[in-house]
Amino acid sequence: MAKQNYQLALITLFLSIIFKARCYVYMCWYVNWSELRPIRPFSADQIDYDLCTHILYSAAVIDPKTLTIAFMQQNVSENLEKILNSKIKYKNLKIILTIGSYDTKSYGFESVTNPNDTQAMLNFSNNLVAYLRKFNFDGVLLDYEFPGMVNRAPLFTKEGFSLLIRKLKRKFKEESIISEKTELILMSTMAARVDWINKFYEIDKIISYLDYMLLLTYDLKRSSEKRTRITSALFPKANETGIYSTFNIASVVAKYLTEGAKANKMVIGIPAYGRSYELTDSLDNMPGALAKGPGLPGLITDETGVLSYFEICDKAQKNDSKKFWDESNLGPYLVYDEKYWIGYEDMDSVYEKMLFIKANNLSGAFLWSIDLDDFDGKHCSQGKYPLLKAIRSELTFNDYETNDFLINSITHFTCSQGRVVQCLQKELYKPHDKD
Ligand SMILES: *[C@@H]1O[C@H](CO)[C@@H](O)[C@H](O)[C@H]1NC(C)=O
Ligand SMILES: *[C@@H]1O[C@H](CO)[C@@H](O)[C@H](O)[C@H]1NC(C)=O
Ligand SMILES: *[C@@H]1O[C@H](CO)[C@@H](O)[C@H](O)[C@H]1NC(C)=O
Ligand SMILES: *[C@@H]1O[C@H](CO)[C@@H](O)[C@H](O)[C@H]1NC(C)=O
Ligand SMILES: *[C@@H]1O[C@H](CO)[C@@H](O)[C@H](O)[C@H]1NC(C)=O
Ligand SMILES: *[C@@H]1O[C@H](CO)[C@@H](O)[C@H](O)[C@H]1NC(C)=O
Ligand SMILES: *[C@@H]1O[C@H](CO)[C@@H](O)[C@H](O)[C@H]1NC(C)=O
Repeated sequence: MAKQNYQLALITLFLSIIFKARCYVYMCWYVNWSELRPIRPFSADQIDYDLCTHILYSAAVIDPKTLTIAFMQQNVSENLEKILNSKIKYKNLKIILTIGSYDTKSYGFESVTNPNDTQAMLNFSNNLVAYLRKFNFDGVLLDYEFPGMVNRAPLFTKEGFSLLIRKLKRKFKEESIISEKTELILMSTMAARVDWINKFYEIDKIISYLDYMLLLTYDLKRSSEKRTRITSALFPKANETGIYSTFNIASVVAKYLTEGAKANKMVIGIPAYGRSYELTDSLDNMPGALAKGPGLPGLITDETGVLSYFEICDKAQKNDSKKFWDESNLGPYLVYDEKYWIGYEDMDSVYEKMLFIKANNLSGAFLWSIDLDDFDGKHCSQGKYPLLKAIRSELTFNDYETNDFLINSITHFTCSQGRVVQCLQKELYKPHDKD
């Protein structure tokens, strides 16, 4: 009997060594402007660190004159200090400083991405490392949207961005040898439109230096678009043609793989918000239906055409609201207030995306942003942080331990329009209960 137990233990150990090798990241994006919302402000005290492998703290900028992190001379804010101090309790948690944002465009980056001025890059690398170490950050996320983009950034910054990334990586490596500390993590957000990737990046020159590539796989649409769309669709719809057939996560990932990016560095962006539209005809409410324009802003998030997940839950509870599920995009949409339409993420669509991440050996997911989830559980009747929990529970779920979850077979995802060169595989699965 004892011998049998021993053998069983050995087998279990053996299996766990084989199958537990895969660890996924689930990153939580914290935006400090959520602290200032007049209604339902979000601050460091509300973070559930158990649900995150990384906290991405937004946003710092580069001071173009001194080439330092702006506000470097000042003390960090009270909330940031709390976040940094959480590492005392959560030993494996990584805190990442985010530089830049969509709104700051090329500000600061321009000064350190001029290919003729490598001295500036060097100075900045030194200043950045000093700053990260001083405050005990674990790394940096460059959120440059986007290098060389017309009307947003000088053209030369595309080439300069590659040089900057290479210099930063070298500096991080050197510093970790000298300081004998764990090497600082280097990550960058990456455009998630198939037609943008080669426009903004010399992709082959940067992929080997980045530890993670955070694909901005939300807002997969054109801003001028006058048709309803689930903005973070997993797969395309049959009647989407041309560029529209690539506005989905599978196409973006396939494109990056084709360009030589490594699957295990790609982190998929999940929006904790939806994009709303005012329908042209309230009876024509399928995805792809004509729309007059964006829907009304949310009471709390106050941005036209955007509702946070918890605001969507409020809308969904109204008795004239109708929720639907799109079988090809693999996501939900809601028709509400008679003439409005919103495509978004719920626990089920997050679950589908996590299966996709696992099936394709991607690195994991990040949620933009955690203040938009139902963080206190008061709006969605799904407990606190339903979306973050859906991400974490699937990415930490060991497929091989239970029998009620069986990967039946692998089918091939059929790529549309010949735009996607490399096809991805999609798991067939038996749904299981999420917590
Ligand atoms: C957010 O960060 C920016 C840049 O570091 C800073 O200027 C701003 O004061 C911060 N906001 C809050 C509410 O702490
Ligand atoms: C900044 O921090 C230092 C040391 O922690 C402290 O002595 C100083 O009073 C702080 N300054 C401000 C403006 O909070
Ligand atoms: C870099 O130097 C070259 C040669 O002097 C010049 O043609 C080019 O315009 C410069 N680029 C920038 C971004 O200053
Ligand atoms: C960069 O560093 C060098 C050497 O420390 C210094 O002479 C130079 O002024 C710095 N340049 C900028 C723009 O900070
Ligand atoms: C695609 O199908 C939907 C639903 O039938 C329809 O509303 C939409 O107009 C179609 N889109 C195009 C581009 O034909
Ligand atoms: C929603 O339900 C309530 C109670 O049943 C009813 O009074 C109200 O008119 C309904 N609202 C709409 C928009 O149907
Ligand atoms: C993912 O990794 C597993 C184990 O290494 C491998 O068997 C599988 O083919 C990979 N899947 C893809 C889509 O690359």
